[in-house]
Amino acid sequence: MKFFIDTANLAQIKEAQELGILDGVTTNPSLMAKEGISGKEAILNRYKTICEIVDGDISAEVLSTSYDEMIKEGEELAAIHPNIVVKIPMIKDGIKALKYFSNKGIKTNCTLIFSAGQALLAAKAGANYVSPFLGRLDDISVDGMNLIEEIRIIFDNYMFDTEILAASIRSPMHIINCAKIGADVVTSPLPSILNLLNHPLTDKGLEQFVADAKKMG
Ligand code: E4P
Repeated sequence: MKFFIDTANLAQIKEAQELGILDGVTTNPSLMAKEGISGKEAILNRYKTICEIVDGDISAEVLSTSYDEMIKEGEELAAIHPNIVVKIPMIKDGIKALKYFSNKGIKTNCTLIFSAGQALLAAKAGANYVSPFLGRLDDISVDGMNLIEEIRIIFDNYMFDTEILAASIRSPMHIINCAKIGADVVTSPLPSILNLLNHPLTDKGLEQFVADAKKMG
């Protein structure tokens, strides 16, 4: 399973990169705004910087919602770096845009996926990734993990190449459950990735080993 980090924060991206386990980065307009980034030039520069830090797929989301605008924006984003994946919302014009980029060999990630039917349509349109939002489903008392399972079954039935990129991750348990089901990628905020490290018995065991090592001089 690939690990992506879900942020536009450079310090966090660098920290995950230095761990040596990072395969890519996802962002969205809300994550960009959280970093105080505004204006086209600043947005394009942030993507460029992220591409210089991480050698992997970097999702860059279009801000418009009409077909013509998404194509124009997506082409500009794709021109930043070969690792840019154009992130397109799951709407009717988005499906057409996915097909356009697929025909042109530009990688895409279809975002805001909340049903298996949406994932199927995006895969048919040639999306490289679909992003089902687990946490936001859990937030409204719908089992987000069940959606990952449904998409896995459908994609395996027809051997779609589209990768399941589990998004809206809220905890390390989301990551573990995604790995059990067979999501291809998990994009997570840094704390959930780092929380995978923790176990009290590891801390206790290491404390003992360090103490015993000292006794041996
Ligand atoms: C990533 O591609 C998504 O935009 C992101 O994971 C959404 O996460 P949120 O539901 O925590 O905002």
